[in-house]
Amino acid sequence: MTHFTQINPPHRLLMGPGPINADPRVLRAMASQLLGQYDPAMTHYMNEVMEMYRALFRTENRWTLLVDGTSRAGIEAVLMSVICPGDKVLVPVFGRFGQLLCEIARRCRAEVHTIEIPWGDVFEPGRIEDAIKRVRPRILLTVQGDTSTTMLQPLDQLGEICRRNDVLFYTDATASIGGNPLEADAWGLDAVSAGLQKCLGGPSGSAPVTLSDRCAAAIRRRAHVEEGIRTPLHRPGDEEIIYSNYFDLAMIMDYWGPERLNHHTEATSMLFAARECARLLLEEGVDMAVARHKIHGDAMLAGIGGMDLAVFGDIRHKMNNVLGVVIPPGIDGEQVRGMMLSDFAIEIGTSFGPLHGKIWRIGTMGYNARKDCVMQTLAALEGVLNRLGYTCPQGAGLQAAWDSYGTAARRATCPG
Ligand SMILES: Cc1ncc(COP(=O)(O)O)c(C=O)c1O
Repeated sequence: MTHFTQINPPHRLLMGPGPINADPRVLRAMASQLLGQYDPAMTHYMNEVMEMYRALFRTENRWTLLVDGTSRAGIEAVLMSVICPGDKVLVPVFGRFGQLLCEIARRCRAEVHTIEIPWGDVFEPGRIEDAIKRVRPRILLTVQGDTSTTMLQPLDQLGEICRRNDVLFYTDATASIGGNPLEADAWGLDAVSAGLQKCLGGPSGSAPVTLSDRCAAAIRRRAHVEEGIRTPLHRPGDEEIIYSNYFDLAMIMDYWGPERLNHHTEATSMLFAARECARLLLEEGVDMAVARHKIHGDAMLAGIGGMDLAVFGDIRHKMNNVLGVVIPPGIDGEQVRGMMLSDFAIEIGTSFGPLHGKIWRIGTMGYNARKDCVMQTLAALEGVLNRLGYTCPQGAGLQAAWDSYGTAARRATCPG
């Protein structure tokens, strides 16, 4: 038999659009010993996780819990549990992850309507309202930060529009939570799903979800406790069953609620990770974490500008935590990524669809939203580009980033 060595991954600095290096404290939490599902210590942790993510999502929603699986599992759980076959949904698509919402909604047998804009832009609220009036959807499905384009869709006015038109309002905040403002209650969101592997500084594999009372009530109307654990006291909901067992949020709520009705076996190590991610963010303060992402995102933006590289998209709507950098003419983007990895152990991101081969995506998020990570990445990129024939003034990227940090520090000491 072949001798397999112990896992010992090479050292990498992950500066792409996520995943990023996990915070060592999150990794340590994951190495904790397992507990039984109904051990009071375990259910106590589950309740703490609910409380912590309420603070992170900025909500009072009772139903704030984890779906076991990557962020896509959180999206699929919400869409499967809310959309009944034949429901109309509206998706404003401004990148790949809007397309993913359409894809999942179609598999829920929704009637999917889209509005589109070129990648690199975001929607005006008025355009979304016009489409809502025309389509009359049951749900508006949005992406807050679409990492494929690096753009952040403003959501603050959409909840009000949805209420006026009796539409449920969902957003995928996988890539934005913790690094950009998100106000689930103040913005009238009915459902939000997220992930750990971006600004929360964890690994992928757990999807925090929050549901408003009206959204939870809509899901409850489809409740159907599975055979084997059902008792005569469990009355089925009076609406169509949810066509997934694993992603049935009505059953997942019963598991996280006081009944602790068995569903799946909670992914304990991931719950420990999710708890530590939230704990770290709350310890720092959500607003401080967002400000940190802005400071390092701005420094990366300044550094890229200092190298005379163009940035992608409507920069006014850029996410704090990821930047699209236009690959200069005559430069092979994949060769640059290859040299960054082999010679500096730094990963920067490629891109999808219409942007493939045109931009790199460089992240500054979670544990890697730090000055040393920004400076190392800029220095390495400048070196590689110069080596491949794109000449830029020596050290200009680093100097511009330093200036940006200086401005941020002055702003912090003399606000206004
Ligand atoms: C905005 C957005 N939504 C969803 C996903 C899918 O996440 P996962 O790969 O964890 O399922 C990603 C991953 O990059 C993302 O950026």
